[in-house]
Amino acid sequence: MKKQLHANDPCWCGSGKAYSGCHQAFDERIRAFRRQGAIVPTHNMIKNEKQIEGIREAGKINVAVLDYVAERIRAGITTDDIDRWVYEETTRLGAIPAPLHYEGFPKSVCTSVNDQVCHGIPSTQDVLVEGDIINVDCSTIYNGYFADSSRMFIIGETTPEKRRLVEVAKACVEAGLEQVKPWGFLGDMGQAVHDLARKNGYTVVREVGGHGVGIQFHEEPWVSYVTRRGTDMLMVPGMMFTIEPMINMGTSAIFIDNDNEWTIYTEDGQPSAQWEIQVLVTPTGHEVISW
Ligand code: MF3
Ligand code: CO
Repeated sequence: MKKQLHANDPCWCGSGKAYSGCHQAFDERIRAFRRQGAIVPTHNMIKNEKQIEGIREAGKINVAVLDYVAERIRAGITTDDIDRWVYEETTRLGAIPAPLHYEGFPKSVCTSVNDQVCHGIPSTQDVLVEGDIINVDCSTIYNGYFADSSRMFIIGETTPEKRRLVEVAKACVEAGLEQVKPWGFLGDMGQAVHDLARKNGYTVVREVGGHGVGIQFHEEPWVSYVTRRGTDMLMVPGMMFTIEPMINMGTSAIFIDNDNEWTIYTEDGQPSAQWEIQVLVTPTGHEVISW
Protein backbone atom coordinates (compact mmCIF):
# COMPACT_ATOMS: atom_id res chain seq x y z
CA MET A 1 0.00 0.00 0.00
CA LYS A 2 1.49 3.32 -1.05
CA LYS A 3 1.37 6.22 1.35
CA GLN A 4 -1.09 8.93 0.31
CA LEU A 5 0.84 12.17 -0.19
CA HIS A 6 -0.32 15.34 1.56
CA ALA A 7 -0.36 18.74 -0.11
CA ASN A 8 2.90 19.90 1.50
CA ASP A 9 4.86 16.66 1.01
CA PRO A 10 7.51 16.71 -1.70
CA CYS A 11 6.06 15.46 -5.01
CA TRP A 12 6.78 11.85 -6.01
CA CYS A 13 8.23 13.02 -9.35
CA GLY A 14 11.45 14.21 -7.73
CA SER A 15 11.00 17.87 -8.73
CA GLY A 16 11.53 18.98 -5.11
CA LYS A 17 8.27 20.96 -5.30
CA ALA A 18 5.34 20.48 -2.93
CA TYR A 19 2.82 17.86 -4.10
CA SER A 20 0.02 20.46 -4.25
CA GLY A 21 2.00 22.69 -6.65
CA CYS A 22 3.21 19.76 -8.75
CA HIS A 23 1.37 16.49 -9.56
CA GLN A 24 -1.60 16.53 -7.16
CA ALA A 25 -4.22 17.74 -9.67
CA PHE A 26 -2.61 15.43 -12.25
CA ASP A 27 -3.06 12.41 -9.95
CA GLU A 28 -6.69 13.33 -9.31
CA ARG A 29 -7.37 13.55 -13.02
CA ILE A 30 -5.80 10.14 -13.60
CA ARG A 31 -7.82 8.67 -10.74
CA ALA A 32 -11.03 9.93 -12.35
CA PHE A 33 -10.15 8.12 -15.59
CA ARG A 34 -9.34 4.96 -13.65
CA ARG A 35 -12.70 5.06 -11.90
CA GLN A 36 -14.30 5.06 -15.35
CA GLY A 37 -12.42 1.89 -16.22
CA ALA A 38 -9.50 3.33 -18.20
CA ILE A 39 -6.06 1.71 -18.18
CA VAL A 40 -3.87 4.39 -16.64
CA PRO A 41 -0.09 4.82 -16.41
CA THR A 42 1.78 4.33 -13.15
CA HIS A 43 4.12 6.97 -11.70
CA ASN A 44 7.24 5.13 -12.89
CA MET A 45 6.17 5.86 -16.49
CA ILE A 46 6.22 9.63 -15.89
CA LYS A 47 9.49 11.48 -16.57
CA ASN A 48 10.42 14.65 -14.69
CA GLU A 49 12.10 17.72 -16.26
CA LYS A 50 15.62 16.66 -15.33
CA GLN A 51 15.15 13.24 -16.88
CA ILE A 52 13.56 14.74 -20.01
CA GLU A 53 16.56 17.07 -20.37
CA GLY A 54 18.92 14.09 -20.20
CA ILE A 55 16.87 12.00 -22.63
CA ARG A 56 16.74 14.92 -25.11
CA GLU A 57 20.56 14.92 -25.19
CA ALA A 58 20.58 11.18 -25.89
CA GLY A 59 18.02 11.81 -28.65
CA LYS A 60 20.27 14.41 -30.33
CA ILE A 61 23.10 11.87 -30.50
CA ASN A 62 20.78 9.18 -31.87
CA VAL A 63 19.65 11.55 -34.63
CA ALA A 64 23.26 12.51 -35.41
CA VAL A 65 24.23 8.83 -35.73
CA LEU A 66 21.33 8.15 -38.10
CA ASP A 67 22.35 11.23 -40.12
CA TYR A 68 25.89 9.84 -40.27
CA VAL A 69 24.54 6.56 -41.67
CA ALA A 70 22.29 8.44 -44.13
CA GLU A 71 25.30 10.20 -45.67
CA ARG A 72 27.18 6.96 -46.28
CA ILE A 73 24.68 4.18 -47.01
CA ARG A 74 24.79 2.98 -50.63
CA ALA A 75 24.93 -0.11 -52.84
CA GLY A 76 28.04 -2.25 -52.34
CA ILE A 77 28.49 -1.74 -48.60
CA THR A 78 27.68 -4.52 -46.12
CA THR A 79 25.36 -4.24 -43.13
CA ASP A 80 28.47 -4.81 -41.02
CA ASP A 81 29.84 -1.52 -42.40
CA ILE A 82 26.72 0.17 -40.98
CA ASP A 83 27.39 -1.51 -37.64
CA ARG A 84 30.95 -0.16 -37.62
CA TRP A 85 29.80 3.38 -38.51
CA VAL A 86 27.22 3.31 -35.72
CA TYR A 87 29.73 2.03 -33.15
CA GLU A 88 32.41 4.54 -34.16
CA GLU A 89 30.16 7.60 -34.39
CA THR A 90 28.21 6.82 -31.21
CA THR A 91 31.34 6.33 -29.14
CA ARG A 92 33.04 9.36 -30.74
CA LEU A 93 30.11 11.42 -29.42
CA GLY A 94 30.67 10.01 -25.92
CA ALA A 95 27.71 7.60 -25.97
CA ILE A 96 27.13 3.84 -26.00
CA PRO A 97 25.14 1.89 -28.64
CA ALA A 98 22.27 0.39 -26.60
CA PRO A 99 21.81 -2.81 -28.68
CA LEU A 100 25.41 -4.03 -28.11
CA HIS A 101 25.18 -7.05 -25.75
CA TYR A 102 21.54 -6.17 -24.94
CA GLU A 103 20.06 -9.55 -23.97
CA GLY A 104 22.87 -11.13 -25.98
CA PHE A 105 22.41 -9.05 -29.16
CA PRO A 106 25.85 -9.20 -30.80
CA LYS A 107 25.98 -5.88 -32.70
CA SER A 108 25.52 -2.10 -32.19
CA VAL A 109 22.52 -1.59 -34.50
CA CYS A 110 19.70 -3.53 -36.14
CA THR A 111 19.70 -3.64 -39.95
CA SER A 112 16.59 -5.21 -41.49
CA VAL A 113 16.55 -5.66 -45.27
CA ASN A 114 13.49 -6.31 -47.54
CA ASP A 115 11.51 -9.20 -45.96
CA GLN A 116 13.31 -8.82 -42.64
CA VAL A 117 10.76 -7.16 -40.37
CA CYS A 118 13.08 -6.11 -37.54
CA HIS A 119 16.10 -7.14 -35.42
CA GLY A 120 18.28 -7.95 -38.42
CA ILE A 121 21.87 -8.61 -37.33
CA PRO A 122 24.59 -6.80 -39.30
CA SER A 123 26.89 -9.18 -41.18
CA THR A 124 29.93 -8.98 -43.45
CA GLN A 125 28.04 -11.42 -45.72
CA ASP A 126 25.10 -9.09 -46.38
CA VAL A 127 25.93 -6.70 -49.22
CA LEU A 128 23.37 -4.02 -50.05
CA VAL A 129 22.31 -4.00 -53.69
CA GLU A 130 20.36 -1.56 -55.85
CA GLY A 131 16.64 -1.81 -55.07
CA ASP A 132 16.98 -3.00 -51.46
CA ILE A 133 14.98 -1.30 -48.76
CA ILE A 134 16.56 -1.33 -45.32
CA ASN A 135 15.61 -0.27 -41.80
CA VAL A 136 18.47 1.03 -39.66
CA ASP A 137 17.40 1.00 -36.00
CA CYS A 138 19.71 3.04 -33.75
CA SER A 139 19.56 3.26 -29.97
CA THR A 140 21.86 5.33 -27.79
CA ILE A 141 22.75 5.46 -24.09
CA TYR A 142 24.09 8.87 -23.03
CA ASN A 143 24.73 9.73 -19.37
CA GLY A 144 22.49 6.79 -18.50
CA TYR A 145 19.54 8.02 -20.61
CA PHE A 146 18.14 6.14 -23.63
CA ALA A 147 17.13 7.19 -27.13
CA ASP A 148 15.67 4.89 -29.81
CA SER A 149 14.61 5.62 -33.38
CA SER A 150 14.93 4.16 -36.85
CA ARG A 151 14.65 5.12 -40.49
CA MET A 152 14.21 3.38 -43.82
CA PHE A 153 16.70 3.82 -46.65
CA ILE A 154 16.18 2.94 -50.30
CA ILE A 155 19.34 1.74 -52.03
CA GLY A 156 19.51 3.46 -55.41
CA GLU A 157 16.32 2.98 -57.41
CA THR A 158 13.74 0.46 -56.25
CA THR A 159 10.37 -0.66 -57.60
CA PRO A 160 7.37 1.71 -57.30
CA GLU A 161 5.74 -0.91 -55.03
CA LYS A 162 8.60 -0.96 -52.55
CA ARG A 163 8.99 2.82 -52.64
CA ARG A 164 5.30 3.25 -51.84
CA LEU A 165 5.60 0.81 -48.90
CA VAL A 166 8.46 2.87 -47.44
CA GLU A 167 6.53 6.12 -47.91
CA VAL A 168 3.29 4.80 -46.44
CA ALA A 169 5.12 3.31 -43.44
CA LYS A 170 6.47 6.79 -42.71
CA ALA A 171 3.03 8.37 -43.18
CA CYS A 172 1.63 5.80 -40.70
CA VAL A 173 4.03 7.05 -38.02
CA GLU A 174 3.06 10.65 -38.80
CA ALA A 175 -0.64 9.81 -38.59
CA GLY A 176 -0.06 8.12 -35.23
CA LEU A 177 2.02 11.02 -33.95
CA GLU A 178 -0.81 13.47 -34.68
CA GLN A 179 -2.92 11.59 -32.15
CA VAL A 180 -0.40 11.90 -29.32
CA LYS A 181 -1.70 14.35 -26.76
CA PRO A 182 -2.47 14.27 -23.04
CA TRP A 183 -5.75 12.68 -21.90
CA GLY A 184 -6.15 10.76 -25.14
CA PHE A 185 -5.51 7.02 -25.44
CA LEU A 186 -2.74 4.99 -27.01
CA GLY A 187 -5.50 3.36 -29.05
CA ASP A 188 -6.16 6.71 -30.77
CA MET A 189 -2.60 6.53 -32.07
CA GLY A 190 -2.81 2.78 -32.79
CA GLN A 191 -5.98 3.07 -34.83
CA ALA A 192 -4.62 6.00 -36.88
CA VAL A 193 -1.59 3.87 -37.81
CA HIS A 194 -3.65 0.78 -38.59
CA ASP A 195 -6.33 2.62 -40.60
CA LEU A 196 -3.79 4.27 -42.89
CA ALA A 197 -1.88 1.02 -43.44
CA ARG A 198 -5.07 -0.87 -44.32
CA LYS A 199 -6.35 1.92 -46.57
CA ASN A 200 -3.18 1.40 -48.59
CA GLY A 201 -3.65 -2.36 -48.78
CA TYR A 202 -0.98 -3.19 -46.21
CA THR A 203 -1.01 -5.08 -42.91
CA VAL A 204 0.45 -4.24 -39.49
CA VAL A 205 2.52 -6.71 -37.47
CA ARG A 206 0.66 -7.58 -34.27
CA GLU A 207 3.20 -9.50 -32.17
CA VAL A 208 5.99 -6.92 -32.07
CA GLY A 209 5.27 -3.45 -30.73
CA GLY A 210 6.78 -0.28 -29.33
CA HIS A 211 7.63 0.53 -25.77
CA GLY A 212 8.22 3.11 -23.10
CA VAL A 213 11.80 4.38 -23.22
CA GLY A 214 14.16 6.88 -21.59
CA ILE A 215 15.32 5.60 -18.22
CA GLN A 216 15.59 2.06 -19.60
CA PHE A 217 15.86 0.77 -23.17
CA HIS A 218 12.47 -0.95 -22.94
CA GLU A 219 9.95 0.19 -20.34
CA GLU A 220 6.23 -0.14 -19.89
CA PRO A 221 3.89 0.35 -21.61
CA TRP A 222 4.06 -2.10 -24.48
CA VAL A 223 2.69 -0.21 -27.49
CA SER A 224 0.46 -1.86 -30.10
CA TYR A 225 -0.50 -0.45 -33.52
CA VAL A 226 -3.60 -2.56 -34.02
CA THR A 227 -5.63 -1.04 -31.17
CA ARG A 228 -8.89 0.90 -31.36
CA ARG A 229 -9.61 4.56 -30.61
CA GLY A 230 -10.51 5.22 -26.96
CA THR A 231 -8.87 1.99 -25.75
CA ASP A 232 -5.48 1.00 -24.36
CA MET A 233 -3.53 3.22 -21.94
CA LEU A 234 -4.36 6.82 -21.14
CA MET A 235 -1.64 9.21 -22.37
CA VAL A 236 -0.51 11.80 -19.81
CA PRO A 237 2.19 14.50 -19.77
CA GLY A 238 5.64 13.07 -19.01
CA MET A 239 4.99 9.69 -20.67
CA MET A 240 7.53 8.75 -23.33
CA PHE A 241 7.26 5.89 -25.81
CA THR A 242 8.09 4.81 -29.35
CA ILE A 243 5.86 4.71 -32.41
CA GLU A 244 7.43 2.00 -34.57
CA PRO A 245 4.84 0.04 -36.55
CA MET A 246 6.07 -2.69 -38.86
CA ILE A 247 4.07 -2.38 -42.10
CA ASN A 248 3.94 -5.43 -44.38
CA MET A 249 3.14 -5.47 -48.09
CA GLY A 250 1.50 -8.89 -47.79
CA THR A 251 0.32 -10.90 -44.81
CA SER A 252 0.94 -9.69 -41.25
CA ALA A 253 2.26 -13.14 -40.32
CA ILE A 254 5.88 -13.32 -39.24
CA PHE A 255 8.43 -15.87 -38.08
CA ILE A 256 11.64 -15.68 -36.09
CA ASP A 257 15.02 -16.88 -37.35
CA ASN A 258 15.69 -20.24 -35.71
CA ASP A 259 19.45 -19.91 -35.88
CA ASN A 260 20.01 -16.50 -34.31
CA GLU A 261 16.67 -16.23 -32.40
CA TRP A 262 16.52 -12.48 -33.14
CA THR A 263 15.69 -11.68 -36.72
CA ILE A 264 12.02 -11.55 -37.68
CA TYR A 265 10.86 -12.18 -41.25
CA THR A 266 7.56 -11.91 -43.08
CA GLU A 267 5.95 -15.34 -43.46
CA ASP A 268 5.22 -14.79 -47.16
CA GLY A 269 8.63 -13.32 -48.06
CA GLN A 270 7.12 -9.99 -49.13
CA PRO A 271 8.82 -6.78 -47.97
CA SER A 272 8.21 -4.98 -44.69
CA ALA A 273 8.99 -1.38 -43.73
CA GLN A 274 9.36 0.36 -40.37
CA TRP A 275 10.14 3.86 -39.15
CA GLU A 276 10.51 4.54 -35.45
CA ILE A 277 10.18 7.74 -33.48
CA GLN A 278 10.54 8.44 -29.78
CA VAL A 279 7.88 10.82 -28.50
CA LEU A 280 7.16 12.65 -25.25
CA VAL A 281 3.61 13.54 -24.21
CA THR A 282 3.70 17.22 -23.19
CA PRO A 283 1.06 19.33 -21.37
CA THR A 284 -0.14 20.66 -24.74
CA GLY A 285 0.56 17.81 -27.17
CA HIS A 286 3.81 16.05 -27.94
CA GLU A 287 7.50 16.54 -28.58
CA VAL A 288 9.57 14.31 -30.86
CA ILE A 289 12.71 13.27 -28.96
CA SER A 290 14.37 11.24 -31.70
CA TRP A 291 13.73 10.47 -35.37
N1 MF3 B 1 15.75 -0.70 -31.36
C1 MF3 B 1 14.91 -1.85 -31.17
C2 MF3 B 1 13.56 -1.32 -30.71
O1 MF3 B 1 13.03 -0.54 -31.41
C3 MF3 B 1 15.53 -2.72 -30.14
C4 MF3 B 1 15.87 -4.04 -30.57
S1 MF3 B 1 16.65 -4.92 -29.32
C5 MF3 B 1 18.17 -5.21 -29.97
O2 MF3 B 1 13.04 -1.60 -29.69
F1 MF3 B 1 18.86 -5.76 -29.07
F2 MF3 B 1 18.03 -5.94 -31.03
F3 MF3 B 1 18.71 -4.06 -30.31
CO1 CO C 1 12.13 0.72 -30.14
